[in-house]
Amino acid sequence: MNAHHEMLGRLRSHRAGFSLSRKFYTDDDYFRLDLEHIWYRQWLFVGHDCELAKPGSYLTVQIGDYPVIVLRSGDGSIRAFHNSCRHRGSRLCSAAHGTVAKLVCPYHQWTYELDGRLLFARDMGAGFDAAQYGLKPVHCESVGGYVWICLAAEAPDFEAFRALALPYLAPHRLKDTKVAFESTIVEKGNWKLVWENNRECYHCAGNHPELCRTFPEAPTVSGVQGAKDDPLIAAHWDRCEEAGLPSLFRISDSGQYRTARMPLLRNAVSYTMSGKAAVKKPLSASVEEDNIGTLLLFHYPSTWNHVLGDHAVSFRVTPIGPRETQVTTKWLVHKDAVEGVDYTIDELTHVWTETNDQDRRIVEENQLGILSPAYEPGPYAPDHEGGVMQFVEWYCNVMERSLGGDPVALRSVA
Ligand code: FES
Ligand SMILES: [Fe+2]
Repeated sequence: MNAHHEMLGRLRSHRAGFSLSRKFYTDDDYFRLDLEHIWYRQWLFVGHDCELAKPGSYLTVQIGDYPVIVLRSGDGSIRAFHNSCRHRGSRLCSAAHGTVAKLVCPYHQWTYELDGRLLFARDMGAGFDAAQYGLKPVHCESVGGYVWICLAAEAPDFEAFRALALPYLAPHRLKDTKVAFESTIVEKGNWKLVWENNRECYHCAGNHPELCRTFPEAPTVSGVQGAKDDPLIAAHWDRCEEAGLPSLFRISDSGQYRTARMPLLRNAVSYTMSGKAAVKKPLSASVEEDNIGTLLLFHYPSTWNHVLGDHAVSFRVTPIGPRETQVTTKWLVHKDAVEGVDYTIDELTHVWTETNDQDRRIVEENQLGILSPAYEPGPYAPDHEGGVMQFVEWYCNVMERSLGGDPVALRSVA
């Protein structure tokens, strides 16, 4: 039986409320199906508008087999292209980011305009039509300072996400930021384990002493149930909405993305050891209310985010292999904030640097245990792991719908 049919059968017989069976976290063929049916089809967060400050600024990402360039064009728009020359296919850009006047292939110097048109190809003969060899575009959108791409030939709707997320993000002026610091770590675990770990705080008290100084472990904060019935959260929403900041918990119909503004513990305003702001220059324009907590935004499968009054932290998930995932974290501060005057890197980044490393260890131990032939799916804690169940349900639904197939032939698969 091929992996496609086997996976579909397992999705259909998945026991709700339990973790997935072993192959979903370990198997090469299942990983390829995840790439083909999720990562090559969904909108993915790749970086920030502020990283593409002027025409020719670019960043590169690798999504499965696809190298992609994201850049600021001459007309100021942000565009994305497959990072593969139309001559013989060389990658055009190998650096993680940089600035170019034109995109020049390092192999034979075919030269492309920032809008992807081929401008120059030496000695290609009289019949050569440069118009046929522009760079292949990749769908690209920007919302509230966050840049997204989609590798599918036909991208799914983006506008519903924009409509939901933009009012939440807009007051924070995230286009007027700079990346004060970024880190990339590789976790030796399947990308779904990285997400499952992110979607609950059942593990926080036992693992995250620094984060737990400011971030509540209550499942109403990190999960998807009960927020509006939590009096602390409801009072926080009232105060923030009054100050003009959209704050209520909202989740898309498919469950792919969610926004909510959540209070921090003991009136903390930032993820610092003291709970005080890490950055003197605020992010948010003309917000009277100081105590705005953290705006939480996740968008499966590629990102979760925190936006605070003084800085924002974005997390980008990139699958490397069935048992390996890259997590890139970026700390954004107001563009005029000066390091050493308005903030220090250590104070700004300490809590999440420690937390990321603790989460890496957790995910790696989770992966090693699942690699045991003795592993079998276990039950999620209903009160604490509702967020994990919601992620797994989203994953199963998307994969099952996308894999489709012949229901009769598949019913026999256990
Ligand atoms: S492969 Fe790019 S110029 Fe030849
Ligand atoms: Fe964690």
